[in-house]
Amino acid sequence: MSNSTSAPRKILVTSALPYANGSIHLGHLLEYIQTDIWVRFQKSRGHECHYVCADDAHGTAIMLRAEQEGISSEALIERVSKEHQADFATFGVAFDNYHSTHSEENRYYSELIYTRLRDAGHIATRDIEQMYDPVKGLFLADRFIKGTCPKCKTPDQYGDNCEACGATYTPAELIDPVSAISGATPEVRSSTHYFFKLPDFADFLKQWTRGGHVQTQIGNKLQEWFESGLNEWDISRDAPYFGFEIPDAPGKYFYVWLDAPIGYLASFKNLCDRTGIDFDAYWRKDSEAEVYHFIGKDIVYFHALFWPAMLHGADFRTPTAVNCHGFVTVNGAKMSKSRGTFIKAATYAEFLNPEYLRYYFAAKLTSRVDDLDLNLEDFAARVNADLVGKVVNIASRCAGFVKKLGDGRLSAHCAEPELVARFIAAGDAIAEDFEAREFGRAVRKIMELADEANTYIADKEPWALAKQAGREQEVLEICSVGINLFRQLMVYLAPVVPAMAEQAREFLKLGSLNWESRHEVLLDHEIAKFKPLMTRVERDKIDAMIEASKEDLVEEQKLKEAAKGPLADDPIGERIAFDDFAKVDLRIARIAKAEYVEGADKLLQLTLDLGGETRNVFAGIRSAYAPEALEGRLTVMVANLAPRKMRFGVSEGMVLAAGNDDGIYLLSPDSGAEPGQRVR
Ligand code: 2FM
Ligand code: ZN
Repeated sequence: MSNSTSAPRKILVTSALPYANGSIHLGHLLEYIQTDIWVRFQKSRGHECHYVCADDAHGTAIMLRAEQEGISSEALIERVSKEHQADFATFGVAFDNYHSTHSEENRYYSELIYTRLRDAGHIATRDIEQMYDPVKGLFLADRFIKGTCPKCKTPDQYGDNCEACGATYTPAELIDPVSAISGATPEVRSSTHYFFKLPDFADFLKQWTRGGHVQTQIGNKLQEWFESGLNEWDISRDAPYFGFEIPDAPGKYFYVWLDAPIGYLASFKNLCDRTGIDFDAYWRKDSEAEVYHFIGKDIVYFHALFWPAMLHGADFRTPTAVNCHGFVTVNGAKMSKSRGTFIKAATYAEFLNPEYLRYYFAAKLTSRVDDLDLNLEDFAARVNADLVGKVVNIASRCAGFVKKLGDGRLSAHCAEPELVARFIAAGDAIAEDFEAREFGRAVRKIMELADEANTYIADKEPWALAKQAGREQEVLEICSVGINLFRQLMVYLAPVVPAMAEQAREFLKLGSLNWESRHEVLLDHEIAKFKPLMTRVERDKIDAMIEASKEDLVEEQKLKEAAKGPLADDPIGERIAFDDFAKVDLRIARIAKAEYVEGADKLLQLTLDLGGETRNVFAGIRSAYAPEALEGRLTVMVANLAPRKMRFGVSEGMVLAAGNDDGIYLLSPDSGAEPGQRVR
């Protein structure tokens, strides 16, 4: 397959779909860069290769995030999609199509796959009990429930395990559980759920797993899962949910993970409709096309079990391979927001050339699932030594002499045909490494060639010869060999550093640097004026990037705080009808008592006098007011807000205040207003 003379293959490639509620960071980029290099390599070899992706736009997290920001889910996913696409473009990740799981194509294929599975008897329904937030009117996934660990009593533990002592439990076992969304105490409620009967596919999956579709490490993991038994998979969620309603089940929605991988089909379909590619040629059961999914090791279960089973059960072909990679660590540790090593794509690109990262990742990538450490010292040293010190150096040492002695034209005679032929022949082994996703091995081979090229030039010392009269032709020939060797290196590096390769292509005045093109030696060929193709990594830029990443964290926290409280500094939001406004019962209230709330660093507990009736209200105004400064003061409250159970007690209303990051300003009526008076 790696032979460049073989017939063009039809190849469809995907990377995992990023969630539409967060920024792309270096952890994500490993996968997109790995996939993009592989895709660019396939295209360079002349294969018909399509690379598609999309934003993973559904689910509770996205719905809540939009709500927090006071915008619609559609507006949020639209904005994030633009950000994601800008980041990908910056890093040279060149999708042929970037779509969204919130699309008509995805609705179509989700419904089609579901109904085919249902009609074949692979869907079951049953009632399950779950925690329910009575204030938000929402079933709560484990990660949206907080409480005190039943074992070590550490407060504020999420979901089903304790970060302090490592205990695991059901959310129902948490002491004083509260909804992380509203602060209300959750209730247990029952509802009907839809399940995909994964065990129906156990035999198929066991066979599929042994068919060379996954790496050995993943095969072993799957074996463990088979041994512990496959379970039916809950594919439905109750309204309210941002997603697609299940066709025969009003009020039930497809779980985000059901329609996420179907997004691969949807994005490809969208591309096919735009460009006339034959969708069925890639996805029908007997298709000869190849389909590859690149994913991280955390989502293997979805891609190597659920996904092939769904496709098989719905009469589609299954993937040729699921290619799994490990996680990125930075300086030997998990990426950390507080250490500034949780680096967003956009923050990196503010300080450093994206091609440095592409090169470094490529130099360390293998076909295995191991984690990859971005050691920032090593990163700078390697990029500087290899790309700048070895590769660019060849061109910069030779270009001047070609300009001066050949008037910008390479010699008509090749002085080292064997050396050049060896560089060309090396392309076959390097191609095998790229094909096998052994990018590190490919890069090592390329750098060995670069060393050879530099040694050749150093031994010949064209700069010394140039000082000797009558040896001009010799110098031109040496440097023309150098430029030819540089060209070979750039063909091999082009999938890794496409922007640098594009500049090299212009410098070499070539139409293409594709794999096949390397066979033609450049003789009596004009080249352009040399411009530095890449500059050195500067250490202070790395430090500045780390500092900026720490600031990103501070900004993020501010945004979260602003979104949390009633004091978000939002622009005018959605318009409401007058009748809706009229339902709000605003009253003058006297703050009879104000106290600190133990364990809540933002709240004050207010006892409000409404002229005869008193109310207990928790208000997020502690940062602006000392309790004693408030006692006796008049303010405005929402008197008919439904009581809200919080961790510290029930809040029976809300006081009105303006505010932003700089301060909080409680509203006060002019003198003369009386407690209990209606505000209109
Ligand atoms: O883990 C994630 O980030 C998911 N959004 C990946 C989805 S991949 C595919 F299934 F859509
Ligand atoms: Zn604990």
